[in-house]
Amino acid sequence: MAASRLAVRAKAAVPVAARLCRQADALAAAGRAEEADSVYRAALAADPALAGAHNNHGNVLRALGRPDEAASAYRAALACGLDLALVHYNLAAVLRQTGQTVEAARAYRRALVMQPDYAEAWNNQANLLRDEERLTEAAISYRRALAARPDWTDGHDNFATALYLLHERGDVETAARLARDWRRDHPDNPMARHIGSAIIGDSAEERAPDAYVRQTFDLFANEFDSKLAELGYRAPELLAEAVAMSGPEPRGDLAVLDAGCGTGLCGAALRPYARCLSGVDLSGGMLAHAHARALYDALDEAELVAHLTAHPSSFDLIVAADVLCYFGELGEVFAAACTALLPAGRLVFSVERLADDAELPPYQVATHGRYAHKEIYVRDALSVSGLALTMMTQETLRFESGEPVVGMVVVAVRP
Ligand SMILES: C[S@@+](CC[C@H](N)C(=O)[O-])C[C@H]1O[C@@H](n2cnc3c(N)ncnc32)[C@H](O)[C@@H]1O
Repeated sequence: MAASRLAVRAKAAVPVAARLCRQADALAAAGRAEEADSVYRAALAADPALAGAHNNHGNVLRALGRPDEAASAYRAALACGLDLALVHYNLAAVLRQTGQTVEAARAYRRALVMQPDYAEAWNNQANLLRDEERLTEAAISYRRALAARPDWTDGHDNFATALYLLHERGDVETAARLARDWRRDHPDNPMARHIGSAIIGDSAEERAPDAYVRQTFDLFANEFDSKLAELGYRAPELLAEAVAMSGPEPRGDLAVLDAGCGTGLCGAALRPYARCLSGVDLSGGMLAHAHARALYDALDEAELVAHLTAHPSSFDLIVAADVLCYFGELGEVFAAACTALLPAGRLVFSVERLADDAELPPYQVATHGRYAHKEIYVRDALSVSGLALTMMTQETLRFESGEPVVGMVVVAVRP
């Protein structure tokens, strides 16, 4: 073919490639990844030097679950001159996915040299280090993510997990030092305050702050049911058994409150007892899942003690599964439950058990942010509140790091 005709063809290919590329970007944005893949291929066949198209093609291949091809696409983008932190970050993510951890770490380092305030890159580098059990380095890398993006809830949650693991593995000193820095640098962050203090060991809170509970469970809501199933979570079924044993018949004639209902795991067992089944929880994210079960007559986004106090003599049955472990001091919530119960109404709940050891306080917050209570303390607090204890059994509530979490299942009655 004559040279002049070849030059004309090459010129024509560029606008064609750009047009195809725009079309592929639109398909990718609409979530039509398969179609976007073939249009990117056509664009890149017309102009293999389109660096941005290689990067975007990589994103589509990643979404299609083809990380090796995605890595080649990102490398092509770099080779075509798109030497950006974002491309190294993208490449690192797929390399990690395919187990090429050394190369992934190198790509994160490159991204961070180019853009030292890249919070997501610090965070994902930390995830890589955490996977390799390099927990101190992981925590330091998470801390850099938080320095770049102080309000990032996921970042704080990841940092909390790294400190929890460090503490679990026995490096209590390092965990406490990092927790002190965390709390100093983010004094208004509820997770830094609550988990930080628990790890340092100087918590003075009587219960987990509302903002902490809301933030934690909003973040956890989508995964809650599957994660708790993995942990062998049994509190809803144990409390359902306790309700059944404590007397009421499932005749659909009771006013029932699922206190701290979360995603509604207790709803199905409580529904047969209820003329009116309501739920209350601080986390809107959790409540959205409870709502989707279509089991509740009412769901309120509110703090439990305030809600109970605002509903005097309203319930025949109040059930709190795995909720009072977010309270240290129990007197206030028991008194509020006593107010909210009708005469002869029942409060059925679980708490985590703290060993009856003279060295230990009546209740204690652990490094994961939940409280455990001594049996004697639960008994005393119930009796002070005016509720009469009718049943208390010791049970495994779930497993954590393979170990059983031992708790108490309790039924108390308003006389
Ligand atoms: C571990 S989940 C248990 C959820 C549900 N009861 C179950 O068994 O699946 C604890 C729930 O208690 C809620 N919660 C904790 N403290 C609370 C409070 N003070 N007021 C209202 N809800 C609270 C949380 O938002 C979360 O949804």
